[in-house]
Amino acid sequence: MAHVSIIGTGNMGQAIAGLVTKGGNTVEVFGSSDNDKRVTGDIVVLAVPYPAVSDVLAQRGEQLAGKIVVDITNPLNFETFDALVVPADGSATAGIAAALPSSRVVKAFNTNFAGTLVAGTVDGQPTTVLVAGDDPDAKALLTGVVGAAGLRAVDAGSLARARELEAIGFLQITLAAAEKVSWTGGFAVAP
Ligand SMILES: NC(=O)c1ccc[n+]([C@@H]2O[C@H](COP(=O)([O-])OP(=O)(O)OC[C@H]3O[C@@H](n4cnc5c(N)ncnc54)[C@H](OP(=O)(O)O)[C@@H]3O)[C@@H](O)[C@H]2O)c1
Repeated sequence: MAHVSIIGTGNMGQAIAGLVTKGGNTVEVFGSSDNDKRVTGDIVVLAVPYPAVSDVLAQRGEQLAGKIVVDITNPLNFETFDALVVPADGSATAGIAAALPSSRVVKAFNTNFAGTLVAGTVDGQPTTVLVAGDDPDAKALLTGVVGAAGLRAVDAGSLARARELEAIGFLQITLAAAEKVSWTGGFAVAP
């Protein structure tokens, strides 16, 4: 059994918490007023907007040592909706990994709209969570949590692939914002 800590009580924090418990694993969720409470999970999900990640790392970086840290952010420029705010040859996840050298950082969930995590399907296809990271054991534990909830998880490769996952997440958001796909739909991954 895995124990998962989620920082952030918004759409994604709640959706991922539901997924964790659906699969028989345990979860604790922290809001922005819970900064004095320490995380106890083996897996810690950063379910906050990208601009808030630096605050979370500043407050909790030392607590995250030895843990699997899951970056789910889509680091868009929300003023222009026309670019990512991370370097073109990097990713939000790479920056988080550099800031947390004692953690095992993975990218996951950023290509899944919250509603598809709750529903478990995208237009009849199983919701597929793409997971990227350099630590096979970390990816396997997270994949197990997703699979236990009845969703698919696919290993998308090394941490370097986080850049492509962020590009996919970016494109999917622009399509939904333009009403070309719905916020409960988006990309499905055929097996
Ligand atoms: N929504 C989606 O479908 C979706 C899909 C893929 C990825 N994502 C990514 O998932 C992340 C969360 O998105 P969301 O839709 O769940 O956002 P949301 O509904 O706006 O929730 C954001 C949460 O972050 C918390 N928060 C903000 N600053 C914080 C801080 N400094 N310390 C602790 N908590 C803080 C907020 O707490 P307060 O309300 O107390 O401020 C809130 O609980 C984002 O990075 C987003 O890009 C979202």
